[in-house]
Amino acid sequence: MKFDTKENEAVFKKVKNQLPELIETQCKGYDEIYGYKIIPGNDENLTKFYNEDIVNAIIFKFCKGYKFQYSIVVEKIKNVLNWRREFNPLSAAYQEVHDPELVEVGLLTHYPNEESNKKIITWNIYGKLVKKKHLFKEANKFLRYRIGLMERSLRLIDFTDNDNNYMAQVHDYKGTSVWKMDSDMKRCVKDIISIFQDYYPELLSAKYFVYVPTFLGWVYDVIKKFVDESTRKKFVVLNDGKKLGKYISNCPSIPYGGKDTKSLQEQNIAEIRPSEYAQYLLEKQIIEDVD
Ligand code: HEM
Repeated sequence: MKFDTKENEAVFKKVKNQLPELIETQCKGYDEIYGYKIIPGNDENLTKFYNEDIVNAIIFKFCKGYKFQYSIVVEKIKNVLNWRREFNPLSAAYQEVHDPELVEVGLLTHYPNEESNKKIITWNIYGKLVKKKHLFKEANKFLRYRIGLMERSLRLIDFTDNDNNYMAQVHDYKGTSVWKMDSDMKRCVKDIISIFQDYYPELLSAKYFVYVPTFLGWVYDVIKKFVDESTRKKFVVLNDGKKLGKYISNCPSIPYGGKDTKSLQEQNIAEIRPSEYAQYLLEKQIIEDVD
């Protein structure tokens, strides 16, 4: 963590000190973010799940994302904790079974030799969904699938590596021909964008939109209005998807122009284990549900 000023460092410390009270009084005791326990707590059986280096990195991201404005940062952390308590993204990531048509279009890769912050990539092959409008009818199902994928991608991030704790994302729109964005899809896209903005700050290094047909440039203009400026600056639109290899050199040569002869499906990391604390919370929920 690098603080630009002493004031920022002081805000960070103040936020961290505030967490136990915040969690107890305003979050019904819920103390997990991205699978990690964010306060040590008093229960001896649970303090083993607390890793201060990881927690520092996560809290730092909230501070940085909200420009070290103490009250806003605290409010945002409160919101993310309450959202996670209710939405249960860990269940979406590790327990729920999603529609195979969705699972097929979401992939995760790890390129250890890529430049920092571009080693972990989430791939959304959304072009394959162009004719599958039924998948957007139940917005919640899509949302749970997409958040589940996001949570699993976070497991690949080493939060303790100060110089490499961001990821990149790719949207592949190959095959998107004549196409209209209907209201179901629009709502779904808007919901996901707003959840990413509010609850996953400072995690994205770059987002590539590839194989975007030139005649669908208007979609970009419509959607980018929902996105805040700092995120928008990370977007790169490539009509020619083979140019992606210039940005992510280890991606598959076909169809992205990288140097790896393996296909994206072969590169995909299908099995991702939850953190120990996430595993504990999920098991606890199962026991409570049975009781
Ligand atoms: C975001 C789906 C076409 C640009 C999204 C999201 C979804 C989605 C689900 C939410 C964010 C995420 O999942 O990471 C689709 C589908 C399309 C389509 C199914 C049609 C097949 C397009 C086209 C463009 C575009 C043609 C033009 C470049 C964007 C942008 C975002 C977005 C700029 C915001 C990304 C963010 O804030 O992270 N899209 N999209 N989309 N899409 Fe598309």
